Amino acid sequence: MKASVLSFRAAVLMGIAGMIWGIAMAINEDHSTFPAHAHFNLLGWVSLFLFGIYYHLHPAIDRTWLPFAQVWVWIVATIVFAIGVGLLQSWHEIGAPLAGVGSLVILADMLLFGWLVYRPAQTALAGQASTSAAE
Ligand code: HEM
Ligand code: HEM
Repeated sequence: MKASVLSFRAAVLMGIAGMIWGIAMAINEDHSTFPAHAHFNLLGWVSLFLFGIYYHLHPAIDRTWLPFAQVWVWIVATIVFAIGVGLLQSWHEIGAPLAGVGSLVILADMLLFGWLVYRPAQTALAGQASTSAAE
């Protein structure tokens, strides 16, 4: 499966889950877990959809394993992070290590995405440089 397809599919599922979470908070008149809901939606629905667009626009890397792994790590880390923040908001200390580890993995995965974004540009520039040198 392409990284973009995985990204779009996961984004939709997490968007639906995040909205159900929001509706549940509203119905129960208990907004205590809203930071976890907010980040689940922003990292799960919004960020994954944006990764999907980027990978779709770069078909040369869309079929390779590294973007696929980047998306999977993001999915798992976002779920761990949101559970951790949700537990912390409801005064369960066990949430702290989950939120901490989740956030660090999310940051590392963003750095990996950044590397994937900059790498093709460097390759293109290197290609241009060798073409100009040959002229
Ligand atoms: C059916 C859809 C949704 C419902 C019913 C819903 C419901 C809620 C509720 C009840 C709160 C708590 C508000 C408060 O106490 O201040 C909240 C906060 C928040 N939600 Fe949602 N939400 C939905 C979808 C989304 C989506 C799709 C996103 C992001 C893409 C999102 C992002 C946020 C953010 C950032 C906050 C925190 C706002 C603040 O700082 O006050 N929500 N939402
Ligand atoms: C590793 C990733 C992230 C960490 C550790 C993080 C951490 C935090 C923290 C500590 C707060 C303050 C919460 C409070 O005072 O109750 C916050 C708020 C907020 N963050 Fe993040 N954030 C992350 C990623 C993001 C991303 C990617 C977005 C947007 C795309 C975002 C949007 C927001 C918004 C809208 C708020 C205010 C609403 C709220 O309190 O939940 N964050 N974040």
